[in-house]
Amino acid sequence: MDQSRKAELLQKDRKYVWHPFTQMKDYANQDHVLIEKAEGIFLYDADGNRYYDTVSSWWVNTHGHAHPRIKQAIIEQLEQMDHVMFSGLTHAQGIELAEKLVQITPEGLTKVFYSDNGSTAVEVALKMSFQYWQQVGKTQKTRFAYLDNGYHGDTLGAVSVGGVDLYHSLYKPLLFSAYRVAAPQLFQWPDASAAGEDACVAAALADVKQLFETSAHELAGIIVEPMIQAAGGMNIYPAAYLKGLRELCTEHAVHLIADEVAVGFGRTGRWFACNHADVSPDIICLSKALTAGVLPLAATLCTEEIYQAFYDDYDRFKTFFHGHSFTGNPVGAAVALASLQIFEEEQVMRHVSDASAHLSVQMERFREFEHVANIRALGMVAAFDLVADRETKQGFDEQDRAGYQIYLEGLEEGLILRPLGDTIYFWLPLATTTSDIDEITRRTMRVLQRKGM
Ligand SMILES: Cc1ncc(COP(=O)(O)O)c(C=O)c1O
Repeated sequence: MDQSRKAELLQKDRKYVWHPFTQMKDYANQDHVLIEKAEGIFLYDADGNRYYDTVSSWWVNTHGHAHPRIKQAIIEQLEQMDHVMFSGLTHAQGIELAEKLVQITPEGLTKVFYSDNGSTAVEVALKMSFQYWQQVGKTQKTRFAYLDNGYHGDTLGAVSVGGVDLYHSLYKPLLFSAYRVAAPQLFQWPDASAAGEDACVAAALADVKQLFETSAHELAGIIVEPMIQAAGGMNIYPAAYLKGLRELCTEHAVHLIADEVAVGFGRTGRWFACNHADVSPDIICLSKALTAGVLPLAATLCTEEIYQAFYDDYDRFKTFFHGHSFTGNPVGAAVALASLQIFEEEQVMRHVSDASAHLSVQMERFREFEHVANIRALGMVAAFDLVADRETKQGFDEQDRAGYQIYLEGLEEGLILRPLGDTIYFWLPLATTTSDIDEITRRTMRVLQRKGM
């Protein structure tokens, strides 16, 4: 791109655009990276510089950018039908995708309700659970529980069940009140041994048990990010927690709502993160990688039992009065179907198994850094924390903005990193090869060296 066009665009960006999750003042004297092209696992800026998309463009990208089969699916679908409403009308793409989703998600989920982003998938889940209990006569069950450090999106229902104070506490006056329970946070647990891990899980489950014993009569559901609390700092936790949570939910008749918006579709090394614990939730929320990270689409799946509580004569007013303009968008659905075909034809899950094993090994190399702690990995996700003191795990002063400094230096190394505070993580496209992983870790090590970590 010629320099005058680039300057003009960046000047207009400053003048007109408000970017998400961004302190715009950070960009008073620094430009956003102007991206012109995305291909494979790379992004290219307006000067032709190439960057590894190590965060999968906010945890969405799956098969790399510009996959020919995905592009073809969009073109073919647009030639046939762009968008139609999904109420009173239906279409092959929405129907066939629903069938596939029921086949691949954990057993027992039989009905698919579409929406268009992760937050709406969560809103749907909360309203569905709430209304279910109203319609089966358990009208006291109106409340929800959520985990400390959990994140489920930015709309107000999702924020009401959000446990990351930095993002959520300000909005409290706007929110419905919900119960907060402890999360299994291994890195805050004093004992790092296997027995310590068990004790950490047991303590978190004991907190749920205590809540359920006193309050299950008023609880509709509990929402959880299976295996990884992502926005809360990539807290990877043991599958035993999910297993225990499922048991408690069944015992106390509380819906288990699995928010797999971020972790679904292979990112954790299994099709769905719930598969690690071999559990089926009552409701599952999907988005992001549903369309291989290319178009906005979401789905909330529920059990037949939940669905049947809404199925009645119209004049009994049990309809689920919820819907979005772009519900079941055919282009999004066609892309999702194409993505699932790629999974099969390119044996993506087999590749993920090899690549994620390699990623875990490579992450060990960060141990040599004095200011790196809590190295962890699951599937194509890996993270570590930057700390001032590795022994005490004392963090850096917030003013230092250590993570942000790494982000800036990463750009110089051709890496798009997007630290969560001082947690540096990789959320790799499933298409990332083992040699890409070597290069990404090598470059990240150079960044750390240069920043004196
Ligand atoms: C676990 C989880 N749930 C929900 C959401 C919200 O998705 P969206 O940003 O598409 O609204 C996110 C987004 O990062 C997420 O990580």
